[in-house]
Amino acid sequence: MSAAYLECADESCRQRFPLDSAEHLCAGCGGLLDVRYDFSSVDGKALRQLWSERKASSAIADQSGVWRFQELLPFLAEGKEIVTLSEGRTPLIEVRRTGEWTGGVKLSIKHQGNNPTGSFKDLGMTSCITQAAAVGSRVTACASTGNTSASMAAYAARAGMKAVVFVPAGKISAAKLAQALEFGAFVIEIGENFDQAFSMLRLLTEEMGLYLVNSINPFRLEGQKTILCEILEQRDWRVPDYIVLPGGNLGNVSAIGKGLLELKQLGLVDKLPRLVVTQASGANPFYTMLASGAHEIVPVTEPNTAATAIRIGDPVNWRKALRAIRATDGLCESVTDDQIFEAKSALARDGVGCEPASAASVAGIRKLVQARQIEPGSEVVAVLTGHQLKDPESGLRRRSEEDLNRQRLRVEPSLEKLRAALENVLMQSA
Ligand code: F0G
Repeated sequence: MSAAYLECADESCRQRFPLDSAEHLCAGCGGLLDVRYDFSSVDGKALRQLWSERKASSAIADQSGVWRFQELLPFLAEGKEIVTLSEGRTPLIEVRRTGEWTGGVKLSIKHQGNNPTGSFKDLGMTSCITQAAAVGSRVTACASTGNTSASMAAYAARAGMKAVVFVPAGKISAAKLAQALEFGAFVIEIGENFDQAFSMLRLLTEEMGLYLVNSINPFRLEGQKTILCEILEQRDWRVPDYIVLPGGNLGNVSAIGKGLLELKQLGLVDKLPRLVVTQASGANPFYTMLASGAHEIVPVTEPNTAATAIRIGDPVNWRKALRAIRATDGLCESVTDDQIFEAKSALARDGVGCEPASAASVAGIRKLVQARQIEPGSEVVAVLTGHQLKDPESGLRRRSEEDLNRQRLRVEPSLEKLRAALENVLMQSA
């Protein structure tokens, strides 16, 4: 196994710490930490073959779309067990019509909704809860807009740990709340938004001996970066021009950026795709920072968007996200709720459902093609981060009664009425 350690992500600090350090921030400068490895003895070129062979294996680790790529995250001490629910292994689907709708890119979607708890969080949760178990934690905690809490609750249950989730009161989807409750988590509803819930949790994390699994925890990002290996395998290792994803707390873009640099270092790719992160216009501090050329993020104090998963005003990972955008010559875009729901409808016409936040990526692509920042004909992979059933009501709420009644007919059980209704249906366009 390669030697692994924690390292401060701040270029001017770079202080190192042991892997089992209880702190998730640099004890020197307070910066974010990365898990780092010595990859010098790893034969990158042999990994493609090895990873491919494991697809036919029935070993528990190989059944996971994270641990099948374990050479990329060799942090687990010898003899420790992984905590897995066969996460990952999600499809990459070509969506031709949606690609045309965005302005003519060759678009595929990587659907992370097809994960055990229905979102991309499961990739990071298997790695993070595995580490939590390895260091003997008994109680895990997170603040969440809903998906992290559902995922943490499931993996904590699997590992036999207690789970405590902090969510903004009345501001997360009922489906996500139901998931956390069903998996036995204790749910603390606190504050108006994610940022408040998170800052309250951080005040007591240490005192109460909680193991924090928010994406400030560098082990989360380790699992999340493996999405890249699946995307590249599914494209026969042809690097796309762009990978586009929605941004909230900016953990996912940070993870993918880190993964890309590691794959390049290992010689598995010779060029990098441009990373694109899309934020909702009511919760877009990262976009505003980049667009204005500012050097620091200015938090949005009252974040607001119907895409509740990304309703975050003070993203903790913004420095790592900036590193990812800079390293890949990436872009950031901001989209309105209307644009998000239009993109969601476009995907639905391709037979693909997702939760609203996920559609922000496709809305961002359309806007960037219109602005000629993404060239028509480009090969683009959009990450859809969560399942359609995570938040089915928000889309329906935006449609008028009249529009819905065109599709939803209540018919008395009489043959005559039914015939008339069906004739009406057959006359309408699809
Ligand atoms: N899409 C979905 C469906 C999400 O749930 C989230 C984040 C994001 C995108 C943004 O990802 O934070 O890595 O930039 N949800 C978190 C949660 C914050 O608590 O479930 P990010």
